[in-house]
Amino acid sequence: MTLLAMWANLQEKGITRTISIIANRMFDFHFDFKYKTDTHNRISLEDLTVTGENKEHGSFYQPTMALSFNRLLAAIPLPPESVLVDFGCGKGRVLLLAALRGIKKAVGIEFSPELCEIARNNVRIVEQATGASLNISVIEGDVTHYEIEDDQNVFFLFNPFDDVVLEAVVKNIQQSLRSKPREIAIIYYNPVHSHILDNSFLPRNSYIIGGEEYMLYVSC
Ligand SMILES: C[S@@+](CC[C@H](N)C(=O)[O-])C[C@H]1O[C@@H](n2cnc3c(N)ncnc32)[C@H](O)[C@@H]1O
Repeated sequence: MTLLAMWANLQEKGITRTISIIANRMFDFHFDFKYKTDTHNRISLEDLTVTGENKEHGSFYQPTMALSFNRLLAAIPLPPESVLVDFGCGKGRVLLLAALRGIKKAVGIEFSPELCEIARNNVRIVEQATGASLNISVIEGDVTHYEIEDDQNVFFLFNPFDDVVLEAVVKNIQQSLRSKPREIAIIYYNPVHSHILDNSFLPRNSYIIGGEEYMLYVSC
């Protein structure tokens, strides 16, 4: 973060939030430095190739803050035998953090082939660094075409797309629950379009962690 950006943050968000943002950024830097991964930087969709018809509905790449995500995972009740799906997984930071925290399996869907390649490479790097085989799959494609599997029960969204695509994803989750009723959790980080989920699932709690907002929903 440049000094100018830090000053702008201080003016806009106040001292506590600014300190929290700096701590988060340092932890993120440390994550990539420790493993030699590349999960950082915001990237506009204009600078990426995108498969499918939903580019105009998608958000740019920006990684979840590692420190706040780790604290969230420690704080929330997750269904047993958690299999996490990150809708719009980008460079795979959430998949890596979840796998490193012992989640059974993590699956990422991403419509940018460049980001998928980086995510897969990051998985290889962390596997080599830790000597562990991480149960992570990165699937290239548009989330609206993704068929949810019966064992998947934790769905993560970091404000990846607008209400149009979110509606389609919600329908897919509901369809999956009809064919295989089960306990699920949906984590919606930076929940800009939360009204769509409010109408379909049970809002369980809202968490502000490190100044970041997450909504947790469960199946009704
Ligand atoms: C804000 S980033 C979040 C990245 C990652 N989930 C994380 O938290 O670190 C949103 C990602 O969603 C992807 N995306 C947006 N719309 C998508 C769609 N319809 N299908 C698949 N990926 C999509 C973008 O390419 C971007 O990488």
